[in-house]
Amino acid sequence: MARVNLSVVVLAVTLLLLAETQAQNPRKRLAPPKPVKAQCCDEVRSLKVQVANLTSLLEEMSRKQETDLLNIVRQMMDLDKQNRQQEARVTEAESKYSEINNRVEMIQLLQSANSVTQTSSDAVYDCASLYHRNYKISEVYKLPKDDFLGTPELDVFCDMETSGGGWTLIQRRKVGLTSFNRDWKQYKNGFGTIRGDFWLGNEHIFRLTRQPSVLRIEMEDWEGETRYAEYGFFTVSNELNSYKLFLANYSGNAGDSLRYHNNTNFSTINKDNDKCVDDCASLRKGGYWYNCCTDSNLNGVFYRYGQHTKSTDGITWYGWHGPNYSLKRVEMKVRPQSFHP
Ligand SMILES: *[C@@H]1O[C@H](CO)[C@@H](O)[C@H](O)[C@H]1NC(C)=O
Ligand SMILES: *[C@@H]1O[C@H](CO)[C@@H](O)[C@H](O)[C@H]1NC(C)=O
Ligand SMILES: *[C@@H]1O[C@H](CO)[C@@H](O)[C@H](O)[C@H]1NC(C)=O
Ligand SMILES: *[C@@H]1O[C@H](CO)[C@@H](O)[C@H](O)[C@H]1NC(C)=O
Ligand SMILES: *[C@@H]1O[C@H](CO)[C@@H](O)[C@H](O)[C@H]1NC(C)=O
Repeated sequence: MARVNLSVVVLAVTLLLLAETQAQNPRKRLAPPKPVKAQCCDEVRSLKVQVANLTSLLEEMSRKQETDLLNIVRQMMDLDKQNRQQEARVTEAESKYSEINNRVEMIQLLQSANSVTQTSSDAVYDCASLYHRNYKISEVYKLPKDDFLGTPELDVFCDMETSGGGWTLIQRRKVGLTSFNRDWKQYKNGFGTIRGDFWLGNEHIFRLTRQPSVLRIEMEDWEGETRYAEYGFFTVSNELNSYKLFLANYSGNAGDSLRYHNNTNFSTINKDNDKCVDDCASLRKGGYWYNCCTDSNLNGVFYRYGQHTKSTDGITWYGWHGPNYSLKRVEMKVRPQSFHP
């Protein structure tokens, strides 16, 4: 706006100067003074009219620019509104995430199931055995039913990359739409979607860890930083023994926040097996090996953007972010101690 104003003003000033020069010049030209003066004054008058016209033009232009500015502001507001609508759409899409995944998953499951059964008639216990059969892509696989081992058909997600691969995921938190406040039976059999948030199931975890196993827990906070905790020994008892947890030989950079839960039974909202007067599963809103109650709560409530000071029921790992910070992403995975990539 300033630029236009300036050029108009410069033009106006130039015209005024021109008028003055023309008013002086004729005097030098020996012409009769009176008519010249009249001519000069006429010219000056006409220039003044032009200047007046230009001034009004200038006013009109600045009015126009003001409406332009208003239009721009309005457009920006519209854009902002569109932006917010798009954000709402993203949230909606996210909630359809699991549903769509399910379908994609089914197709890929069928594919991987076919190839697994084609290449080998040997038992496939877990992702480590798949790895040794040359499946080295992190994917969903179907472990076939095995009558001899007494294991049912099972969908698993294999991490074939992290720290040598061969990991079978037993838990994941990342989308935040699946409730983990579930009862004993659901924790026993598993729930959620294998590509999204899920608990594999205590019965499956028990079976997987009958062979000496390693547990690896990977975590991410809302700033995008990642940490891990690894236990060189990890096993859970059977249902008769309340899926009691045993672990040893911590290593990692997240802190040893599962040690406190060592030697405790599994608890859910409808089965209080903790070592506390309080009902930890209800307080912490998850199923877990609650002691009294937590030094970590990986099956807690998913809180977007982490901070939740009113309750201590988030997805917490005290050794890293303390009791009031709910993590953005968690994966728990196991593989046999004997695994070598
Ligand atoms: C100034 O404007 C008036 C009407 O707006 C017009 O009639 C006149 O010719 C203009 N004069 C000049 C010198 O532009
Ligand atoms: C822990 O690690 C040590 C040293 O590698 C090993 O001797 C011990 O057996 C491990 N403990 C368990 C329970 O696996
Ligand atoms: C754990 O469960 C077993 C059997 O399910 C029970 O005998 C034991 O007392 C429980 N321990 C605790 C601390 O609740
Ligand atoms: C867990 O308890 C067992 C004994 O039951 C012990 O050998 C092991 O070292 C403990 N693990 C940790 C991490 O303290
Ligand atoms: C966590 O939140 C509770 C309740 O607001 C508060 O008393 C406690 O000091 C907080 N702890 C940390 C480590 O911020």
